[in-house]
Amino acid sequence: MTAPTMDEAARVFADPLAYADEVKLHAALTHLRTNEPVAWVDVADYRPFWAITKHADIMDIERANTLFTNSPRPVLATAEGDEQQAAIGVSTLIHMDDPQHRAVRAIGADWFRPKAMRALKVRIDELAKRYVDHMVEAGPECDFVQEVAVNYPLYVIMSMLGLPESDFPRMLHYTQELFGNDDAEFQRGTSKEEQMSVLLEMFQYFNELTASRRASPTEDLASAIANAQIKGEPLSDIDTVSYYLIIATAGHDTTSAVISGGLQALVENPDQRERLRANMDLMPLATEEMIRWVTPVKEFMRTAQQETTVRGVPIAAGDSVLLSYASANRDEEVFDDPFRFDVGRDPNKHNAFGYGVHFCLGAALARMEVNSFFSELVPRLESIELAGDPQHISTIFVGGLKHLPIRYSLK
Ligand code: HEM
Repeated sequence: MTAPTMDEAARVFADPLAYADEVKLHAALTHLRTNEPVAWVDVADYRPFWAITKHADIMDIERANTLFTNSPRPVLATAEGDEQQAAIGVSTLIHMDDPQHRAVRAIGADWFRPKAMRALKVRIDELAKRYVDHMVEAGPECDFVQEVAVNYPLYVIMSMLGLPESDFPRMLHYTQELFGNDDAEFQRGTSKEEQMSVLLEMFQYFNELTASRRASPTEDLASAIANAQIKGEPLSDIDTVSYYLIIATAGHDTTSAVISGGLQALVENPDQRERLRANMDLMPLATEEMIRWVTPVKEFMRTAQQETTVRGVPIAAGDSVLLSYASANRDEEVFDDPFRFDVGRDPNKHNAFGYGVHFCLGAALARMEVNSFFSELVPRLESIELAGDPQHISTIFVGGLKHLPIRYSLK
């Protein structure tokens, strides 16, 4: 493939189709890392921004969380999308900065700490087994993404929130529409009104949840959020709904993308699959490698509060920077042979969960889900191959495979 021009390379961030073509995407990101690691991107429909593609620069920016804030532009959206979100007033953890961020994050934090995770492990192992058993029933062929990968993490996070199982399909549909709003197969429609209606319906659903948990508190995460107080005051309705929204969405598509992308990597690298099967003690390292390999959260953004520099490039106060985790996790200065999938990679300093004060709240949960699933699957796999072409979702934010047809035999 010929090297992209600088302009073509920088456009990938605002092109939903670019993330669906991994070869083209990584050609562009590698080109930027090598030639212009702090690149000004100015494309139609988007407010301009700096694309940051080196791992070290992303870590530095995330560390400097008062100089580079999440507000007012935490993720890349079109200028129109930015305005609509501001009008609705969505205010999740990723939209906030300290001190508000710290206080709000503390409300959910205990639910994701190692102690809480240990208590969940038996349940997650059971669910992993249930979904691998489902593969046996569905076999010898299935679309792994739609039959397994999207359902298992959804089940885990909805159970933690305390939602009834009868609502899971509806939540699955909402999150797919929300993250798939750039994908013709999943989007509700092409107009902004149709796309925003997904968010509004989720708001309504969650508002009802808040009311019911306030009226009769229960022992679940939804109740902890609905009844939390900061300085003696409950969260506002919009903050409460936003909390549910980030837990439900962040806790679902990300992990399912790692599970399906991780399986694809094992199918395409039989030597690594055999290596893992022969030494299941590698599972924690293999889990990290799958997370690095897939990097389902492609980017987050920050806004400079004062004039500064990144890698010597002047950044003006008010400029936005896009942190390309997809690029950082293939940075040849950090990873030995970054395009090799290596289930024993150690060290593996990927930043797929971000870094600093916004470091992914659900990282321990995500790791446990991936680990439990493959710990169940890999020893039972007798054979596995692709039964069609894997397809990626079109996105500029969170995503991975949307179809992974496989043929397999399982014990
Ligand atoms: C492999 C799966 C996952 C990946 C790759 C991932 C990635 C990320 C990233 C990159 C961030 C932003 C970090 C930053 O700005 O420095 C984040 C934040 C967050 N994630 Fe995850 N995530 C995953 C799974 C989960 C799960 C299972 C949950 C469960 C609820 C979750 C909940 C959150 C929340 C609440 C935040 C906002 C934290 C804050 O702003 O303080 N994530 N995640």
